[in-house]
Amino acid sequence: MAKMLDGPVPNGARSVSWPWYHHTLTTELTVDARKLLEQYSKIPPEDIESHIYRIRDKAWGVFPWPCVGEFWFLSFGLAKHPLYHTMVLPRLISGDSLLDLGACLGQDLRKCVFDGAPPDRLYASDLFVEYEDLSYELWRDRESFPNHFFADDVLSDNDTFMQGNLMMKLGPGQTDMIVINMFLHLFDYCNQMKVVTRILRLLSHKPGSIVLGSQAGVVEPIEQPLKPPFDKTQDGEKRTIFRHSPESFTRMWEDAGKAAGVPLRPIVCEFQKSEVIEASAPGMDTGLAAEEKKPFTADDLFSRASTTRPKVVSQSGPETGRLYFSVIRS
Ligand SMILES: C[S@@+](CC[C@H](N)C(=O)[O-])C[C@H]1O[C@@H](n2cnc3c(N)ncnc32)[C@H](O)[C@@H]1O
Repeated sequence: MAKMLDGPVPNGARSVSWPWYHHTLTTELTVDARKLLEQYSKIPPEDIESHIYRIRDKAWGVFPWPCVGEFWFLSFGLAKHPLYHTMVLPRLISGDSLLDLGACLGQDLRKCVFDGAPPDRLYASDLFVEYEDLSYELWRDRESFPNHFFADDVLSDNDTFMQGNLMMKLGPGQTDMIVINMFLHLFDYCNQMKVVTRILRLLSHKPGSIVLGSQAGVVEPIEQPLKPPFDKTQDGEKRTIFRHSPESFTRMWEDAGKAAGVPLRPIVCEFQKSEVIEASAPGMDTGLAAEEKKPFTADDLFSRASTTRPKVVSQSGPETGRLYFSVIRS
């Protein structure tokens, strides 16, 4: 597998003093998360917190992502998508396949199984091969949910990608639904285009096949520099990530669809402001509050360096929120 970005984790990046390493669970262990751990994973209620801390610290040792430090793996992003109950679950139940790309510890797939989806056409992929074992350890379903995880690097060079797990095990044009939650916003614009093009390649040729998910969004699109410890490549080049507005996100997919010759229906991309997210009723499992409260530093750690970068649109603090999107093949 290709190496993580352009080098190893920078020195000190695994320190637990980074603000995105939450020492204790607060709002993250929602009613829904507890229910899944108790009823799906059969973990005794009194053991749940220690179980979560233990797996989280192992995952932190793999890579110190905010999604690990902030326990996002207890938040079911896919189930919050407007199409989850009306389209995703019914299609899974009738036999469609689904790939969760950038799955981390695989909470969204477990939620699908818990909600009635057959496990045999659900797949997960992530850069880190270690997440396969760790997700089995977290969800305790090694026997009931076997062989669904394929480690792969969506940014590897073309030859490597063509020979990699995603293309060899799932194959081009085969997957009916591809979920990308909190994923594309990890990358700069050029790399997002590369990933989007590869996603369209994996997507089934059947009309109605869909890419859906959510990610951090802004009102004014911006290529944003990252903060330490992931702000520079080993060669000292600055790293950036691209934050989309609904318009720039839609345009990117339209451009990628045209270039790849994939016909797409008009893309739906909705912006939900952070205040709306944070104003959700207490106890409601939005799964969003913890993610939205954190400062920019931790939100997206870094992207691969790109040679050409779109112009920075704004330097002021962008208005942040969440983009929910669906891209459907016509
Ligand atoms: C912010 S986390 C989101 C995890 C999960 N989808 C969620 O919603 O909680 C992003 C995930 O993308 C994975 N990732 C980062 N770069 C990747 C790459 N080049 N190829 C595949 N996965 C990658 C990370 O390892 C991480 O698990």
